[in-house]
Amino acid sequence: MAKLRVGVLISGRGSNLQALLDACADKAFPAEIVLVVSNRSDAPGLDRARRAGVPTRLLDHKSFPTREAFDLAMTALLHTAGVELVCLAGFMRLLSDDFVEAWKDRLINIHPSLLPSFRGMHTHRQALDAGVTLHGCTVHFVTNDLDAGPILVQAAVPVHSGDDEASLADRVLEAEHRIYPLALRWLAEGRVSVANGRVTVADATQALYPLINPAA
Ligand code: GRF
Repeated sequence: MAKLRVGVLISGRGSNLQALLDACADKAFPAEIVLVVSNRSDAPGLDRARRAGVPTRLLDHKSFPTREAFDLAMTALLHTAGVELVCLAGFMRLLSDDFVEAWKDRLINIHPSLLPSFRGMHTHRQALDAGVTLHGCTVHFVTNDLDAGPILVQAAVPVHSGDDEASLADRVLEAEHRIYPLALRWLAEGRVSVANGRVTVADATQALYPLINPAA
């Protein structure tokens, strides 16, 4: 069967991009990354893509008069590459309503919190300030409401006493690298449906056990 053609938008480090590239390196994986677009020339993620032999494009938002013009140029690049699904992976630009509408149900993001808790930036700081003992990450569809689109999959991780932002971020990031490729696989296998803001994944194994922290 033809693989799902994926475009990934990045602005920085690209560790989630790397997790997707690693998954796609498996011949049996049902998706392929056909284009990586960065809005920053110094994004280390660009090298990750190049090393994997994936075409990259740099699109500097500062050289466009408006957000809409920048987003239109991105859509043009993605269309030219035959992209069917767009993955945001640390892409640090707000997207215009038109872009989100153009890619409706074909645009996903990974967010470093258990949404709807801790939308926006500095999610690990927010979690530590709130005193939660479980934190995590979410893969969700992107809608016009920031970090509030239909949820595809979440992973919970414990917050340890003594955690700081960095140690918590590391623990969450490991979980991100597991669930982003998982979500991509499900989408590529055509197992995901969205209705009334709710996602259903056909034939997904349901987790049975609670994660309790502190444990005893
Ligand atoms: C990740 O924490 C992701 O959840 C958030 O931005 C960060 C990107 O990290 N959206 P990387 O560039 O994938 O390493």
